[in-house]
Amino acid sequence: MSNQLIRIFDTTLRDGEQSPGCSMNLEEKLQLARQLERLGVDIIEAGFPIASEGDFESVQAIAAELKDAGVCGLARTGSADVERAAQALEKARSPRIHTFIATSDIHLEHKLKMNRERVLEEVDRAVRQARGYCDDVEFSAEDATRSDRDYLVEVFKTAIEAGASTCNVPDTVGYTQPEEYATLMRYLIEKVPGSDRAVFSVHCHDDLGLAVSNSLAAVLAGARQVECTVNGIGERAGNTSMEEVVMALKTRPDVFRDLDTKIRAQEIYPSSRMLSTIIGVPVPPNKAIVGDNAFAHEAGIHQDGVLKAAITYEIMTPQSIGRPSNELVLGKHSGRHAFGDRLKELGFEIEGEEFQAAFRRFKDLADKKKTIYNEDLEAIVADSVIGLDQRFEFVDLSILSGTFAEPTATLALKVDGELQKATSTGIGPIDAIFKAIAELCESKSELERFQVNAVTGGMDALGEVSVTLGEDGRRVIGHGAHPDIMVASAKAYLHALNKISWHKSRRGSAEPRGI
Ligand code: KIV
Ligand code: ZN
Repeated sequence: MSNQLIRIFDTTLRDGEQSPGCSMNLEEKLQLARQLERLGVDIIEAGFPIASEGDFESVQAIAAELKDAGVCGLARTGSADVERAAQALEKARSPRIHTFIATSDIHLEHKLKMNRERVLEEVDRAVRQARGYCDDVEFSAEDATRSDRDYLVEVFKTAIEAGASTCNVPDTVGYTQPEEYATLMRYLIEKVPGSDRAVFSVHCHDDLGLAVSNSLAAVLAGARQVECTVNGIGERAGNTSMEEVVMALKTRPDVFRDLDTKIRAQEIYPSSRMLSTIIGVPVPPNKAIVGDNAFAHEAGIHQDGVLKAAITYEIMTPQSIGRPSNELVLGKHSGRHAFGDRLKELGFEIEGEEFQAAFRRFKDLADKKKTIYNEDLEAIVADSVIGLDQRFEFVDLSILSGTFAEPTATLALKVDGELQKATSTGIGPIDAIFKAIAELCESKSELERFQVNAVTGGMDALGEVSVTLGEDGRRVIGHGAHPDIMVASAKAYLHALNKISWHKSRRGSAEPRGI
C-alpha cells in the first residue's frame, strides 16, 4: 500500500449499528454493505459475530457476497469470540479478524479485574489464535487514550510480535484532544518495536465533538487507517464521520500532503441517504457535507457571490459528493429506464419483483403528485423494497377527526391473508389508528418513537413516517410513505410489526444485542 493512501475502515455496521435507533436487519445490512463497496471503502466491519445469532448471520452473509472490500468481524480476546468471528468470515475473500481488549488502568481495575501482565497474555494469545485463521489481524487497545503510553508500547509490541498487521488506538470515550492524540500516535509509531510492520489506525468517538479533528491530527502524525461511519453514527455522540474525513483530505491536499483515500466521492451522498432511509434517522440539516443545508446559500450576498463564481463561497461542489440536483427528477411520463437509473444514482440496486413493485408505487404517486423528488423515490424504496414477508398488509383506512368528533379510525388489514376490520378511538387520530392495528395484529409491542417527515416540500408533499417499536428487548424501525400522513403512519407501524413477526418466526424469541 502506498504510504500516501489512507485506508478507510467502515464500522457503520458494527459501532454504528450498535447505537440506539440504528439497528438493521440482515437484508438492510446487506444492502448497505453493497453500497459501502460501491463507495470504495477498504474494509467493512460487518458486525460482532459472538454478540448474537443475527450479528453472526450478517457477517457471514456479507462475507460471502462482497468481492472488493475486505470484511471484518469483531472479537474480544476470549478464544470463543475469536473462533466465532473466524467461522462467520469463512467465505470472505479478504477476511480480517479484529480483536480488542481494554488497556487503561481504569478498565483493568473496574471492568476486567486483570493486571497488566495478564492483559499482555490475552493480547498475545488472541492475536496468535486469530492468525491461525487468517493473515489479516487487527488489534485494538480499547480506551487507549486513557492508557499509560509506555504500557501501550508493550501492548502493541506484543500484538505485532504475535502477528497483528493493524494496531488501532481507540479514543473509546471521546476524551482526547487533537494535539494530544497526534503526540500519542507519533510516540507509538516511534517507540513500538516493529511498528514499521503494522499500519497504525485511529478510532475516535465524538463525545466532545472532536472525532474528525482528532482523526485528522493523528493522520498527520502517521496513522494510515481511519475507522469511521457514514453520517458519523455510533455509540453515544457517534464515531468519526467518514464523509467529513474523506472530503477534508480531498479539499486540503496542501495540508494533508497529498494523502488520499480510495473512496469514490460521488457515492458519498447516496450512501448517506441510504443509511438514513434504512435506519429512519434523519441527517441534521446543518451536518457537514451531507446535511440538507450543507450547500444551501441563503444570505443574499452569498447567493450573489456563488452565481458570479462558485469558488467565492463553495470549497467543494455538491456534484463532487454525488448530490443530485434537487429539481424535479421524474414525472408521470417517466418510464422504467429513467426510474431505474435514478434509483441507481441514489444507491438502490433493485431488480425483479422488488423493482416492479417500486415502479408501480412510483406510477401511483406520479398520478397524485405533479413533482417527484429524489426523497420521494427513497421513501418509495423504503416502503416497498426494504420489506419482509407481509404477515400484516394494509388494505383501507378511514379517519374521523377534528374538534367535534372523538378521533376514530376504521381500519381494514389482511392478517395472514385474511381480511379483518377494526374500529378504535384514541386521544388523536394516530393513537386511534395504532390501537386498531394493535388489536388486529394482537401486538404487545411498545411504541418507542414516532417520527414524521414531509420528505418533499409543497402542498403535495409525500409524508414519510418512521415508527420504532420495542418488544422483549428487541427494537425495530418501520417506514411508511404516502401523501396522506395517516396512511403513512399505519404503514410504518405495520412495517415494524412485520419485522418483529419475522424475527419471532426465525428464532422463536426476540434477542437483545450489544457488546
Ligand atoms: O470504541 C472502541 O474502543 C471500540 C473498539 C471495539 C475498537 O469500538
Ligand atoms: Zn468505538
